[in-house]
Amino acid sequence: MKPVMPHAQLDWDDQGRPRSRVFDDVYFSDQSGLDETRYVFIEQNRLSERFAQLPADGRLVIGETGFGTGLNFLCAWQLFEQQAVAGARLHFISVEKYPLSPADLQRALALWPELKAFADQLLAQYVAIHQGFQRLVLDNGRVTLTLLIGDALEQLPQLDARIDAWFLDGFAPAKNPDMWTAELFAELARLAAPDSTISTFTSTGWVRRLLNAAGFKMRRTPGIGHKWEILRGGFVAWPEDTPAPVAAKPWFARPTQVVDERRALVIGGGLAGCATASSLAARGWQVSLLERHEALAQEASGNPQGVLYLKLSAHGTALSQLIVSGFGHTRRLLEHLQRGVDWADCGVLQLAFNAKEAERQAQLAAAFPADLVHLLDLPDAQARAGIALEHGGLYYPEGGWVHPPALCRWQASHPNVQVLTHRDALELRKVDDHWQAWDNASLLASAPVVILAGAAEIKRFAQSADLPLKRIRGQITRLPQTAESQCLATVVCAEGYVAPARLGEHTLGASFDFNSDDLTPSTAEHLGNLDMLREISGDLVGRLHADQLDPEQLQGRAAFRCTSPDYLPIVGPLADSQAFSRAYAALGKDARQVPDVPCPWLDGLYVNSGHGSRGLITAPLSGELLAAWLDNEPLPLPRSVAEACHPNRFALRRLIRGT
Ligand SMILES: Cc1cc2nc3c(=O)[nH]c(=O)nc-3n(C[C@H](O)[C@H](O)[C@H](O)COP(=O)(O)OP(=O)(O)OC[C@H]3O[C@@H](n4cnc5c(N)ncnc54)[C@H](O)[C@@H]3O)c2cc1C
Ligand SMILES: C[S@@+](CC[C@H](N)C(=O)[O-])C[C@H]1O[C@@H](n2cnc3c(N)ncnc32)[C@H](O)[C@@H]1O
Repeated sequence: MKPVMPHAQLDWDDQGRPRSRVFDDVYFSDQSGLDETRYVFIEQNRLSERFAQLPADGRLVIGETGFGTGLNFLCAWQLFEQQAVAGARLHFISVEKYPLSPADLQRALALWPELKAFADQLLAQYVAIHQGFQRLVLDNGRVTLTLLIGDALEQLPQLDARIDAWFLDGFAPAKNPDMWTAELFAELARLAAPDSTISTFTSTGWVRRLLNAAGFKMRRTPGIGHKWEILRGGFVAWPEDTPAPVAAKPWFARPTQVVDERRALVIGGGLAGCATASSLAARGWQVSLLERHEALAQEASGNPQGVLYLKLSAHGTALSQLIVSGFGHTRRLLEHLQRGVDWADCGVLQLAFNAKEAERQAQLAAAFPADLVHLLDLPDAQARAGIALEHGGLYYPEGGWVHPPALCRWQASHPNVQVLTHRDALELRKVDDHWQAWDNASLLASAPVVILAGAAEIKRFAQSADLPLKRIRGQITRLPQTAESQCLATVVCAEGYVAPARLGEHTLGASFDFNSDDLTPSTAEHLGNLDMLREISGDLVGRLHADQLDPEQLQGRAAFRCTSPDYLPIVGPLADSQAFSRAYAALGKDARQVPDVPCPWLDGLYVNSGHGSRGLITAPLSGELLAAWLDNEPLPLPRSVAEACHPNRFALRRLIRGT
């Protein structure tokens, strides 16, 4: 089981500066934290001139050990804002084992009024920061912050990125030796871009020697304040006497970038397509978003309310890691939308409706921190939910409900996104370097890059027909709010879920039907949903007068979820399936082989699909993942999770199993 991640334990000195109780050290210099940061990290990495030299589609990636109060990040962002041309982007990646609580972060950053404009944006997005990779999109996507929450030596090996400048800012080596080890420096070298620079406040001899041994060339340079000397340097080469880091397998390697033209078609206007369009648009891509209906979010993403519910595993599976990262990302995006109408952070209560569920919940509560999830006994659960219940359960205080169409529309509202409705793409053709989307005889649109985001409908295209996607029909029931149901204060789930009312209606969901192709809402499924409501709370049934409603008159809607066999989404570049089988046929005989054959990519063709019953949590971050594949950027998820979501995983499994 993963240890529960505590927040930083701080003391505050008489000047209001934070000090770590655990490490007995300061977060920044006692004299002038700001001057020291600027001198040690910004100047020594020559960031002013490097930001100024970035082209309009350029980006600089900074890596840091020890996010702490975010002071270094804010200083870098402020300078980037002053120096970089419009269109250039800053990507800051920082690892932190003991994140500050939001209240402590706010208190620490209040020390720097000159950074207020930046600190306020960071604080507004500093929500749902839990273990693993947490992406924050700032300044409309011009600045990306990826926090790796956990021990540096656990997190950095999972990072797939090229770092242009390293800030080494653990506590002093004598007090925090874990942040200054040969093993960690090998990770910094593995991640360093060819011209990477590096600096740190310490000049300790063994730190310098270990960094030199890892492949950096470090130099002592005059310090600032009471620091006599500090270290600066650059990456030279991976040391000859050390085995080279293991490269990604060719089927999971990054496709070489074939296009200079940053223009893409996204096919499908639900959560997956809108998220993809948004992530690309924020990176300066021109996106045409094709949707067959008259508007966005008319199918699975069209429900009045969906639940931000985290189906976690206590065992740290790829899916569970994706869920914690995806939840955080979605939750932060929602801060841009209107509370009460577009979403509500009312919390989600999952009832322990039988012994097996109670046992599962106890394991989860032990594996995750209380601010993400904790157990509530029956009286506390009732107090939270505002209604009478028969069981306590597991409570997700930061969860809630979302009106998915609002999230879709907000994501598609970027000026670089052109929404083209009534476009039903039936066929994809590659002509020269462009993909064309056709509807029988008419050419709908073309671009060098196409992203298939049409849920299970992507199987209609020859290029993606092999992907093992299934449709599962689901129906929700809309129940009018009553005077007595107004007290429902959280989403409550058992087998089904019911949400506090949005615009006078509660959403009750949702049925699962693996066989039906018919999307007409059925009375039988409304009745099934009402049974699930009874399981949640007899009291709420009474408050909603649900037993007196005429089942024939119930309102609702049905749509298809789209799932993959391993319940992970399918996100990433597509390969030619027949050429793939030929290229890697040797795996059928020996699964450990890694043939030295480049993957036969379908250049420019990508997928974002298979979001099952949790698209609200997985689709927005999948947009970021896809953009990272396309733009050769740091991945927003651990490498292993990105590979677990990779379209090639199925072809690979087929080869290995000989099926
Ligand atoms: C009843 C029900 C309840 C759910 N409850 C929740 C919940 O509580 N929480 C949660 O997180 N998730 C929930 N989900 C799942 C969630 O809705 C989905 O995971 C998510 O909407 C998937 O988004 P998508 O963009 O992949 O698919 P969709 O929303 O289905 O979007 C695909 C879009 O592509 C368009 N399209 C397809 N092919 C083409 C083409 N060739 N040309 C042009 N356009 C095309 C379609 O018209 C559609 O608009 C629920 C789903 C259902 C059905
Ligand atoms: C000097 S502070 C960083 C200051 C920070 N850069 C700033 O701008 O405020 C060092 C940070 O390293 C973190 N840290 C210490 N040991 C760690 C480890 N093993 N892995 C990840 N982070 C660690 C501490 O929690 C602390 O926040």
